[in-house]
Amino acid sequence: MKADIGLIGLATMGQNLALNIERNQYTIAVYNRTTERLDEFINGKGFEKNIIGCYDVENLCNTLKKPRIILLMIKAGKPVDDSISMLLPFLEPGDIIIDGGNSFFSDTIRRLKKLENKGIHYLGAGISGGEEGALKGPSIMPGGSLEAWKHVEEIFTKITAKINGDPCCSYIGSDGAGHYVKMVHNGIEYSDMQLISEIYYILKKFLNLTAYELAKIFAEWDKGDLNSYLIKITSKILLEEDPVTKNPLVDMILDSAKQKGTGKWASQEALEMGVPVPSITEAVYARNISSKREERLEASKLLTGPTPQFSGEKSILVEATRKALIAAKICSYAQGFSLLKAASDEYKWELNLSNIAQIWRNGCIIRARFLKQVKVAFQQDKDLSNLLLDSYFSDVIKTSQEDWRFVVNLAVENGIPIPALSSALSYYDSYRNPSLPANLIQAQRDYFGAHGFERVDKEQGLIYHYEKWAPLDED
Ligand code: 6PG
Repeated sequence: MKADIGLIGLATMGQNLALNIERNQYTIAVYNRTTERLDEFINGKGFEKNIIGCYDVENLCNTLKKPRIILLMIKAGKPVDDSISMLLPFLEPGDIIIDGGNSFFSDTIRRLKKLENKGIHYLGAGISGGEEGALKGPSIMPGGSLEAWKHVEEIFTKITAKINGDPCCSYIGSDGAGHYVKMVHNGIEYSDMQLISEIYYILKKFLNLTAYELAKIFAEWDKGDLNSYLIKITSKILLEEDPVTKNPLVDMILDSAKQKGTGKWASQEALEMGVPVPSITEAVYARNISSKREERLEASKLLTGPTPQFSGEKSILVEATRKALIAAKICSYAQGFSLLKAASDEYKWELNLSNIAQIWRNGCIIRARFLKQVKVAFQQDKDLSNLLLDSYFSDVIKTSQEDWRFVVNLAVENGIPIPALSSALSYYDSYRNPSLPANLIQAQRDYFGAHGFERVDKEQGLIYHYEKWAPLDED
């Protein structure tokens, strides 16, 4: 029996995707570098299923129908290049390799070019949804060879998550587009998580609520506009009890966040592109500063600040934080989509932002009810330059900004760090303001470097330099 598709890499995501593919009536051949894991899988979760265990890549390639389709579910970086090199001797023109990991998009572009020269089709497919998503239906963002996509469309459409029957997977664009979109997905994931954590912390500090009480608030919010996977899991996490101490488990977890780098990449790419994504970048910084725990503990002995206090009505603060979270979330998505738009122009990907919102509506980590409106916004105007300009979102911000400002003020006055919440507000205020203090920056640049400036009373583009800036008095 020949297999429809091959998969390399049987870590949890790989195993679950293999099971998902098999459940959808395909025969799958699997290979893993360490034989023990392969044996464990084919004799365990993969037992008595249409799953063929292969002990080397030659065998894997010989087991596949032609053109061969091979899905790599391995760590990003060198392992991907190594696996491609290992496969090449056993592939023929027309065969297809898919990288389903979190690869950096420019690596995907490089690999695609190299393989294209050999007639091998390459797809870089961002896959989101964690272990559960991989098994039950992830969100998939495939980019690269359109020819390859035509061959895998049927399988991917079957295994992906659905929203009202529509698949959360469609062709994203050429070369690195799929992995780029996944990178931005992860950047938004970072800021979503940071925003939720800041709100959790505000409520905890001001209202002295227990994790269990906080769980109820998040569960309640999940019934409304904030309905999303991340809000839902937050309410579940807060309910969990530590089996050892019997304290809420969350209170026993060290406040030092780790990261694998996709959020950082999104920030770096945004800087390259000149697109502001402060909420994403602040979320990366927040993880950085949290991980310097020893240093923070030392600093806390020396550096002073207010002790959080709140004497107002609990229900008022809870409702204000809910609105602040929605408004900041809109700004963070506005930033992420602006980055996608800029990248689409730069790399000529012709990204369909409405489709991307659709793909993210189910299966992935940032799935949220809210994405339906994002989809509609870009459907109504595919060239919308910023989500904040869509009337649905500008109206939501109109009705929530008073609360948002109240929450930011309160946190700042009381010394509670809110980098994502406050930077989102500054983003909003910068974007909506007809005047910014950049005139002074231009003057300073002209003073010390004769860099020139444009004038408010002259045509834009004409550069003036002021010759007579007063010299500094000598000290
Ligand atoms: C997803 C996740 C997934 C992974 C993150 C975690 O979409 O399914 O984003 O790709 O869990 O890479 O990233 P950090 O370790 O950087 O938080």
